[in-house]
Amino acid sequence: MAETPTLKFITLEGGEGTGKSTLQRALAKRLESEGFEVVTTREPGGTPLAEAVRQLALHPPAGGNWSPMSEALLMNAARRDHLENLIRPALAEGKWVICDRFADSTRVYQSVKGGVSPNVLKSMEASVLGETVPGLTLILDAPLETTASRRTSRNGPDDVFEKRAADFHHAVRQGFISLSQSEPDRCRLIDASRSEQDVFEAAWAVLAATYSLGEMAG
Ligand code: TMP
Repeated sequence: MAETPTLKFITLEGGEGTGKSTLQRALAKRLESEGFEVVTTREPGGTPLAEAVRQLALHPPAGGNWSPMSEALLMNAARRDHLENLIRPALAEGKWVICDRFADSTRVYQSVKGGVSPNVLKSMEASVLGETVPGLTLILDAPLETTASRRTSRNGPDDVFEKRAADFHHAVRQGFISLSQSEPDRCRLIDASRSEQDVFEAAWAVLAATYSLGEMAG
């Protein structure tokens, strides 16, 4: 069995509309009810500078179009600020951090469909993250047909990623599935086609087992 991770740093990954934000709230609530302090955050974003980068990346001005490499650089620039100014300080204070998307989103979204080479992304990632690697990554997986209605906001597709064609989203789904297979100790695939409660219970069971909760001091 894998060792208990040192960092109480959990990331939630998966395609759009798989229920990451809902799960994030439920996990935070449950951890808080156990007496832990929890910081919930998201990527791209989480700090004022990173939120500004989010706006640039997801809504390029004047209908512009970032290349996959530019997107990867933007995501990593935002991530570095987020790590330095929010994630690492919170972990150093003994808080749990639950982040809605993190480095695995770059690995997948910026590499699929002729994007950046995975080796280049990995080396960028290693420099940006240093030792701040998530202890547990829950990858929410559901068929595109299930997430279609949740993938677009009420007024139709909003950001550049939501506007991409179905084959892009299929490739993203496959990318996350492959990732869960290549790093089975850190990444766990959760069937997100079930009810919110079932998804939460499955995720909580993994989290509690991974961190030996119950044996761990607050
Ligand atoms: P969301 O967090 O509201 O799902 O939107 C963020 C979008 O940004 C989503 O479509 C995935 C994309 N994204 C990347 O392409 N690379 C990244 O590294 C991150 C964090 C997000």
